[in-house]
Amino acid sequence: MNIDWKSMPFGYYKTKVNVRSCFRDGEWGEIEVSESEEVSMHMAATSLHYGQEAFEGMKAFTGKDGKIRIFRWEENSRRLQHSASGVLMQEVPDELFREAITKVVQLNREFVPPYGHGAAFYLRPLLIGTGPQVGIQPAKEYLFLVFGTPVGPYFREGFNPVKIQIARDFDRAAPLGTGTFKVGGNYAASLKALKRGRDEGYSSVLFLDAKEKKYIDECGPANFFGIKDNTYITPESTSILASITNKSLITLAEDMGMKVERRKVPIEELETFDEVGACGTAAVITPIGKITDRDTGKEYHYCPDGKPGPVTTKLYQTLTGIQLGEVEDRYGWNLIVE
Ligand code: PLP
Ligand code: COI
Repeated sequence: MNIDWKSMPFGYYKTKVNVRSCFRDGEWGEIEVSESEEVSMHMAATSLHYGQEAFEGMKAFTGKDGKIRIFRWEENSRRLQHSASGVLMQEVPDELFREAITKVVQLNREFVPPYGHGAAFYLRPLLIGTGPQVGIQPAKEYLFLVFGTPVGPYFREGFNPVKIQIARDFDRAAPLGTGTFKVGGNYAASLKALKRGRDEGYSSVLFLDAKEKKYIDECGPANFFGIKDNTYITPESTSILASITNKSLITLAEDMGMKVERRKVPIEELETFDEVGACGTAAVITPIGKITDRDTGKEYHYCPDGKPGPVTTKLYQTLTGIQLGEVEDRYGWNLIVE
């Protein structure tokens, strides 16, 4: 196999197999290994009509020692359960989740990027309602599927400052809506804003809180953070996804002797940060160099020398160091796949 690991995009790359389990007659079935890239289901399946679907995004890495590590799988499993409960789907038990992700890695080993190329093996667990309903009701049958694909950086800039656009004229999720669930509808709601932002030269968009348009909410497919006065500040909101990367950075920032504040972040505060960034599994830590408010034309500038700031850099090195087995995994975040 001849894969150019160094220039991998963040996209779909066919691997050998995926794994599946069906919930039917009140129980989850045995895990099946499949070579098919397709899913066949009833045309009245609830995932197709009523948005009964949720997914996860997580990564496996080949470490310096050649071992493959999956990062914080229990957190993703718990979050999929949270998303499932949010749209009344059958929850996937931790054991099934763990067995499925482990199998996908083991059976696709040759597609897990080797150490040292900046690429990772992205795992995409997916849960969908497959049973038919015409009235608005939850399905009785579900499919849990996990596929994997080797990926490079989500933002083509890699660990370099990106430009972000504030899109006030779109809401990603409502305060009492589905924002905390990783369900497809939230991504559907963000597509137009993201496409326009990209067309206008930005890597991603920053959504404000939908009710008051006063506070920073979600940063495209990532959480937002700002750094000032030795403090790591990240929005508290009922409409953002609880990022596992953000949770990890909070721990690492505290380890670095920083204060942490999870609270509402008013838009005006953007003026006061020394460093700002976006974080997520795909985005890793993406430093932000410029934020433009599309409606007011106001610009906020960071990274004056064109490079990521010192705190963002240290957080990035520590996080990726743990994932790659270069920095001690003090909290037991990695699952080593034998
Ligand atoms: N917010 C949204 C909307 C996302 O899609 C993601 C990606 O999963 C994140 C935040 C970051 O979450 P995590 O760090 O768990 O990948
Ligand atoms: C992730 O970071 O895993 C995501 O889910 C982002 C994605 C939707 C591309």
